[in-house]
Amino acid sequence: MPELDIHQFLCRQDNFGVLLRDRGSSACAAIDAPEEAPIERALRDTGWKLTHILVTHHHDDHIAAIPALKARHGAKVVANRADSRRIPGVDETVEPGQTYDFAGHMAEIIDTPGHTRGHIAWHLAQDRLVFVGDTLFSLGCGRVIEGSMDEMWRSLDRLRNLPGDTRVYCGHEYTLANARFALTVDPDNPALQARAKEASAEVKAGRLTLPVTIASECRANPFLRPQDKAIRARLGLVNASDAEVFAELRRRKNAF
Ligand SMILES: [Fe+2]
Repeated sequence: MPELDIHQFLCRQDNFGVLLRDRGSSACAAIDAPEEAPIERALRDTGWKLTHILVTHHHDDHIAAIPALKARHGAKVVANRADSRRIPGVDETVEPGQTYDFAGHMAEIIDTPGHTRGHIAWHLAQDRLVFVGDTLFSLGCGRVIEGSMDEMWRSLDRLRNLPGDTRVYCGHEYTLANARFALTVDPDNPALQARAKEASAEVKAGRLTLPVTIASECRANPFLRPQDKAIRARLGLVNASDAEVFAELRRRKNAF
């Protein structure tokens, strides 16, 4: 299987733009379409020709550039069938549990409701890649806007059970802000301390803090660690369910 090249860059302050390109066929997908100008610049910088836009969810900061990019490049827009009326220009729909063939790279569509009802993640198992949109962030997770806390927890639980060496690409560069909250609920976790330090050095050097691996997040991200005894003790939820601990973490983060 030909390799995938990935180019990641910032859009609209703190959104990530991502281009994914198959070396064999030259097919090139944008993961979401946050902003036209930086995506066009990325296409010029790489010399890649946009053929697909793979959408994680309907929020404006993930779909705003779809009409312009589609008009200019004729890219095929692929989105969750359940959200196809809320996303402009959809050419092809997918459903959770299906796989989508991107230039020979099979992407498993993972149902990740919670941030929005129709949110999906794109998991390219053979390439050890997952694009999680606004469900999981490094050291954090998305706000629970359209779904329930239980749904969001089940979505995160699905993601944390992917192979540990899977590289995670997220919708936003929120790592440093997330680290500040995470350290208030899990201050003695050496993996979190190390990740926070590493992310801070990356930002100081003008680099991006993503991708990160599932294994690293499982060690450092409190939202993936509701089973952890120290976190439970700090929240006063020693005997609660994982979903209840997650919900309390998310409520505290909302108020942080
Ligand atoms: Fe969002």
